[in-house]
Amino acid sequence: MDKLLEVKNLTKVYSLGSITSRIRITATDNVSFYIKPAEIFTLAGESGCGKTTTAKMVLSFEEPTSGTIVHKGKPRAKNEKVWFTQGVQAIYQDPFGTFNPLRTVDRYFFETVQNFKLADSRDTAVTLIDRKLKAVGLSYEEFAGKYPSEFSGGQLQRISIARALLTDPVLLIADEPVSMVDASLRMSIVNLFKKLKEEFGMSVLYITHDLATAYYVSDRIAIMFRGNIVEMGTVEEVLMNPRHPYTQMLRDSIPEADPKRRWRGRVNLNETEYEEYLKQGCRYAGRCPLVMDICRQEAPANIQVGDVLVRCHKYTESVMT
Ligand SMILES: Nc1ncnc2c1ncn2[C@@H]1O[C@H](COP(=O)(O)OP(=O)(O)OP(=O)(O)O)[C@@H](O)[C@H]1O
Ligand SMILES: [Mg+2]
Repeated sequence: MDKLLEVKNLTKVYSLGSITSRIRITATDNVSFYIKPAEIFTLAGESGCGKTTTAKMVLSFEEPTSGTIVHKGKPRAKNEKVWFTQGVQAIYQDPFGTFNPLRTVDRYFFETVQNFKLADSRDTAVTLIDRKLKAVGLSYEEFAGKYPSEFSGGQLQRISIARALLTDPVLLIADEPVSMVDASLRMSIVNLFKKLKEEFGMSVLYITHDLATAYYVSDRIAIMFRGNIVEMGTVEEVLMNPRHPYTQMLRDSIPEADPKRRWRGRVNLNETEYEEYLKQGCRYAGRCPLVMDICRQEAPANIQVGDVLVRCHKYTESVMT
């Protein structure tokens, strides 16, 4: 099978605290998944589960503690920064944070065109920029000479997508792209992902708290909890027929993204988070309504249930029989 991107056993350990009381946080723990060409793959889960850390490693903003990232069949070398030119682009949660309020947004576009040598004259640059803006439902005339504050959050998020499209990426990484956009406009943004997939064969790594948009737009989904992927499969199977007790809980009530938490990450953990990271067995055992003795002792392995991968002792053979 064709894989556009594959991450294998991606682990990131952060050390927190002072010299006297160091704590090691496994922000991602052996995370493995792949993304196919022209596929929307979603990482979902509550705040702090490791979604952004995963994205940062894929984008080379963070070096993994261990594990490999394979892009178009080629493993990424340590500290390799060529991902952007190789067709991976990213958009983030806060479109207002992406653009300097004192610069007109078109300058960013012309800069990208120049940096990547995408056009040989101003006219061809404008044509290219207009084409990318039209792909997201805007146009060059509507945007030329304007400052970020002259756009709504939804428009600005479209503009950041258009900018990402300038280099014809094969993969767009979108980290909470709709959490700061009005609920009424969220669907129109995620609809764009579908359109980019269908019309240009682009793939999207969609990171979200919002299972409604995830269900609507994704082909496959991975549910993360405290650094582990606890369930992964087609979005239909995982969200309509959740196997893992955490997925079942999430489906019934998913906390909203916290807009104060930014891409750069936050380093203060609350008590529950600490405890869950330090757990011996399953990290979800403390909250799980179906907890068994074994859950507190042994971390569950990945178990294949039909087409879905589930990390839960409920599906371990010895427990089931
Ligand atoms: N630079 C850092 N130094 C130390 N710990 C970090 C750092 N970045 C993230 N973490 C910790 O790693 C864990 C995973 O964080 P991450 O930002 O990946 O979660 P997330 O799923 O993206 O959360 P959110 O939905 O709130 O964006 C958290 O416990 C976080 O506090
Ligand atoms: Mg995040």
